[in-house]
Amino acid sequence: MHLIEDKRHLQAVLAAERQKNHSIGLVPTMGALHYGHLSLVKRALSENGVVVVSIFVNPTQFDNQNDLKNYPSNLERDLDLLNALSEDILVFAPSKTEIYPGEIAPQKFKFGGLEKTMEGQYRNGHFDGVATIVELLLKTVGPDKAYFGEKDFQQLQIVRKLVRSKQIPVEIIGCPIQREANGLAMSSRNERLPKEVRQRAGFIFETLKTAKRQFGMKSADYLRKWVKDQFKANNDFDLEYFEITDEEKLAPIQRKRKNKKYRAFIAVYAKGVRLIDNIALN
Ligand code: PAF
Repeated sequence: MHLIEDKRHLQAVLAAERQKNHSIGLVPTMGALHYGHLSLVKRALSENGVVVVSIFVNPTQFDNQNDLKNYPSNLERDLDLLNALSEDILVFAPSKTEIYPGEIAPQKFKFGGLEKTMEGQYRNGHFDGVATIVELLLKTVGPDKAYFGEKDFQQLQIVRKLVRSKQIPVEIIGCPIQREANGLAMSSRNERLPKEVRQRAGFIFETLKTAKRQFGMKSADYLRKWVKDQFKANNDFDLEYFEITDEEKLAPIQRKRKNKKYRAFIAVYAKGVRLIDNIALN
């Protein structure tokens, strides 16, 4: 594992790799790595000559300063985990000023409505911050492939739209959600959950699975209310949203139609920790 902190140094190393005809895979992360991230890195290693893992807690994608302050971070542990996968990984861990030499502010983007629902609705400016850093990373690294987890499915669709609209020549690869033994979607934030709540948080995925079983037989509105009621009756979690949308436009739906793909999305708070998850419905 090679730790690189500045863009120019990274670009010089990557130029030498390109000379050797090595393809480049990029896995963008905010650190506090868990098995979900490592599964992306493993896939990137299997498909590319060289892999860059970026570790940067991007301030402009946090609408809540407390969430940013409490975001877990442990660079040494992250580096050990990556080194155990491969000693050749290039870890790009820039400082804030390397990424934002001037004002720490996002650019403004429009994603044709994809950014308006769910995470976009509840986390003001979140996707402007995500798109700002992802565009910068893609342009700095110039990867052939970049890997994103489906846990952040809305982010994945927005990144796909970003590269299409900016004509960035990269293949965006969506990778399946990794789950803890009880079904809780793996997330860096899980570390902040009290142990007993983390154990009971399998409830979130159980609820999504039961909603999935009912999808098609019941209307989307029925399921929205049903999920709301499940969370009302559970003292561990506060539901922020549950939504059923088509996969392409992420627009809330009323009824299932033939030949379209749908997903259910959820965001909940557990003891002040925000958790998200989603499930493909067909
Ligand atoms: O998914 C994440 O961890 C972040 O949103 C990303 C893509 C690394 C951008 O900061």
